[in-house]
Amino acid sequence: MNTIVITGASSGIGKATAKYFAGKGWKVAATMRKPANETELNQHDNISLYGLDVTDEASIANAAEQILNDFGAVDVVLNNAGYGLLGPFEAATPEQIKRQFDTNVFGLMSVTRAFLPHFRANRAGLFLNVSSIGGLVTFPLMSLYHSTKWAVEGFSESLSYELGELGIRVKIIEPGGVATDFSGRSLVLAGKEGLTAYDEVMGKFQANRAKFGLNASTAEFLAEGIYAAATDGKTQLRYLIGEDAEQTYAMRQQAGDDAFIAGMKERILT
Ligand SMILES: NC(=O)c1ccc[n+]([C@@H]2O[C@H](COP(=O)([O-])OP(=O)(O)OC[C@H]3O[C@@H](n4cnc5c(N)ncnc54)[C@H](OP(=O)(O)O)[C@@H]3O)[C@@H](O)[C@H]2O)c1
Repeated sequence: MNTIVITGASSGIGKATAKYFAGKGWKVAATMRKPANETELNQHDNISLYGLDVTDEASIANAAEQILNDFGAVDVVLNNAGYGLLGPFEAATPEQIKRQFDTNVFGLMSVTRAFLPHFRANRAGLFLNVSSIGGLVTFPLMSLYHSTKWAVEGFSESLSYELGELGIRVKIIEPGGVATDFSGRSLVLAGKEGLTAYDEVMGKFQANRAKFGLNASTAEFLAEGIYAAATDGKTQLRYLIGEDAEQTYAMRQQAGDDAFIAGMKERILT
């Protein structure tokens, strides 16, 4: 039986993917910060819950050890846990910036490192790293979120060379807008008392935010795309999932950097 480990499986893309893989007969290690609160995934025969906070090295090591003991082998690791920090860079506190990178970048690296010895020993395994269309282009007022996802892109692409030599694959998942908790409870706002210089640009951004197609895809659609990436046997690195993601990336490639950025300004900041 094939096995997958998923981070951030308590909601959204992670939860939908856990259910989708379990439905296809995979054994799923659904990891999350608070497994005691989970009431749905623990009803599935093929899904086991594990506590894992990607910002806590000890919890990653414990979960990896337990999962490898219980499952014997892991085929795929889906690095999915993440959230967005929105607002002007200047308004974000150093703590907010650190937590954004600790979760989206260093957490993903730590989970990757925890499963590498197992993949190396097997000369097999696949890391599926969830980035975003926001790892390939940028939208205004999300400089910190984008910088984490651009980091995931560079890390994953370069890592794929060295791990490829050892029989281990890396793929990047690039969702467009997905209807999850991402733009609700998972979105952290950067705002600094008395810093009003960005109010106008922030107001324009908020007024035009809907143009991003925030809920363009469902989490189930993402799960299907992630399953295809896990099972298609291709050497493809990037998987754009969602029509909005495909269109935005095609636009960036056709228009080039400067024209794309001018177009974004026109759409979002006027
Ligand atoms: N939704 C979109 O439009 C969209 C677009 C592009 C990319 N993405 C990416 O997709 C991934 C999943 O997001 P989503 O849309 O499914 O949003 P979501 O429903 O808010 O899910 C985010 C998940 O990440 C978990 N998480 C956050 N910090 C964590 C930590 N320190 N340790 C472990 N888990 C942690 C959350 O767990 P808790 O329940 O404990 O908070 C939750 O399970 C993220 O990497 C996000 O950047 C989303």
